Amino acid sequence: MTAAPALPDLPEDDQLFLLLRQLDAAPEASQRETAAALGISLGSLNAQLRAATEAGLVKITDRKGPDRRQRFVYALTTRGAATKARLIDPFLARKYTEYAALHAELTGTPAGPTPIKYRSTLMLNNLAPIPELYVSYESAQKLKVEAADLVSWDLTPRQICDLELLMNGGFNPLKGFLSEEDYNGVVENMRTADGTLWPIPITLDVSEDFAANLTEGQDIALRDQEGVILATMTVTDNWVPNKSREAEKVFGADDDAHPAVNYLHNKAGKVYLGGPVTGIQQPVHYDFRARRDTPNEMRAFFRKMGWRRVVAFQTRNPLHRAHQELTFRAAKEAQANLLIHPVVGMTKPGDVDHFTRVRCYEAVLDKYPQSTTTMSLLNLAMRMAGPREAVWHGLIRANHGCTHFIVGRDHAGPGKNSAGEDFYGPYDAQDLFREYQDEIGIEMVDFKHMVYVQERAQYEPNDEIEDKDNVTILNISGTELRRRLQEGLEIPEWFSFPEVVRELRRTKPPRSQQGFTVFFTGFSGSGKSTIANALMVKLMEMGGRPVTLLDGDIVRKNLSSELGFSKEHRDLNIKRIGYVASEITKNGGIAICAPIAPYAATRRHVREEIEQYGAFVEVHVATSIEECERRDRKGLYKLAREGKIKEFTGISDPYDVPQNPELSVETENVDVDNCAHQVILKLESMGLIAGQ
Ligand code: PPS
Repeated sequence: MTAAPALPDLPEDDQLFLLLRQLDAAPEASQRETAAALGISLGSLNAQLRAATEAGLVKITDRKGPDRRQRFVYALTTRGAATKARLIDPFLARKYTEYAALHAELTGTPAGPTPIKYRSTLMLNNLAPIPELYVSYESAQKLKVEAADLVSWDLTPRQICDLELLMNGGFNPLKGFLSEEDYNGVVENMRTADGTLWPIPITLDVSEDFAANLTEGQDIALRDQEGVILATMTVTDNWVPNKSREAEKVFGADDDAHPAVNYLHNKAGKVYLGGPVTGIQQPVHYDFRARRDTPNEMRAFFRKMGWRRVVAFQTRNPLHRAHQELTFRAAKEAQANLLIHPVVGMTKPGDVDHFTRVRCYEAVLDKYPQSTTTMSLLNLAMRMAGPREAVWHGLIRANHGCTHFIVGRDHAGPGKNSAGEDFYGPYDAQDLFREYQDEIGIEMVDFKHMVYVQERAQYEPNDEIEDKDNVTILNISGTELRRRLQEGLEIPEWFSFPEVVRELRRTKPPRSQQGFTVFFTGFSGSGKSTIANALMVKLMEMGGRPVTLLDGDIVRKNLSSELGFSKEHRDLNIKRIGYVASEITKNGGIAICAPIAPYAATRRHVREEIEQYGAFVEVHVATSIEECERRDRKGLYKLAREGKIKEFTGISDPYDVPQNPELSVETENVDVDNCAHQVILKLESMGLIAGQ
């Protein structure tokens, strides 16, 4: 056996970085031009190219040059691009040290600017550009063609948000989706394996089937939902995470009432992939394009405007007067300009949609003194992780060139847990942020709850009001605001701006004019269809909104004729019903659904989908299995008992009894008309139907 020839040594890191950078910037250049640009001899360039090619960092092709002579063309591979991205930080660190030494020499001051303590504060100057994971336009065109042959993963909406911020430096210093080692570090103690502070796992979750066919070191293409290749990734890690552990450590409890824990267990794939990412193109956005900025665009804007100190305000809600007062005060306190930095990626299910919010923000922007304030939209997928999320938000804003960050009461709070208690204390986020703020590289401007003091006609932090007993303190909670909007009630001037209220009313007319879904669930033969039919007729008699009935049997005939009754097929069937109902609800109609829908997680999925657009009224038709079997209207129970029908709900297949339905109706000893009437009364009490 002959020994394999030894690989030529790769150049030192800095030299390798310069070589890869040069090939990325000018892949069409001749060798002579490349050598000149790098300031090295042709011989040395050749040796370096050979080493880089053999290490799989550079790809060589040959083609005829303009003089018809054979000529070589070099291009970065996915791995080469990832290596270049990895080498940027140490390269910059060394350059910075050189700069500091030169600065000391020229100015006669022995010490340079503040020493580098942490990677995230590497860019002491918050206005200098930060590394991105994109390759040059020319390299991207080449990589895109190559990536067309790769196995590809269709990214979920949340993964697209994560990828965008990875690629544009919003998640700097991450260079891709976390490896298993980095993930474990992040989950356990908020640090990647090399000690970098990072509080939230950024992972690529995929299905078991997809993961099973991958090998270590394989490149995959990452596509958006229309199939456009946004990036490639070299898969270095492929593992099944302990999701309960992740939930406990990152979100504080393994409780599905937390939206991110629910996502983790019920939406995210079972397997995680990790590895460096090479950016090919930004995800496309058609809305508010002028308001979307990458971290480097934000930094360039601050440079151009001469803004040295910038305080960022993170929000997922419309801005009302209290927020405006808070941001004003923060800017004054920090003696800084203000960046309103709302999240438009994914926020808490049930939030006001970002289109409406951005129109509200634009209306409020005029209220700030000119040229002190700007607004930019952040395509972040929030996790509602409270304290950890606050630290994450700080790191992201530092990457965007901000020097200060506002953390208020209950920052990124997920609401109540399944025992009805808050997941986090109201100021936990501020406490954790304070602990890490030096390392994050951004200063916290903390605020307590702002309330309106009627006598002084102004907002003040609740804890700073000394004469509480002698003044009238007014406050409208988020829940109260939603109620007033839903019922078309007055929203006072002291609370919000007329422009904002008008905008909110435009998208959220009173509930009695919005679409909604009534979702019946219960055993076969429980009476769902009969009550649903009676309800439909009653609603049609009232008029005003179109009514559509999506009955289990009708759907199975028209929408789901190819499906059986396995868990997978039932879920698919219910999700289809949910999708159609959400479209009806969005467009102002009434959808009445009446499937068995035996699984709680699937019902919750449908609820979340619909609640983006209108109310979801779950009605449990609570007829017992014994009664359904006794009635056996279709003779199916008999067949199920005889084993002639498999997987029959309640007999040989499970049914999760709804824990918190809006209404539960008994059908034994109650006639159908009365059952339907109970639903009507419920709809009335929820404000969904009103007198003329
Ligand atoms: S599911 O679980 O929600 O997808 O079921 P659904 O679409 O509502 O369909 C239920 C109707 O299909 C008939 N059927 C069965 N039900 C349960 N389990 C098994 N294995 C089964 N096989 C057929 C039954 O008639 C149900 O009708 P309803 O209207 O509920 O009585």
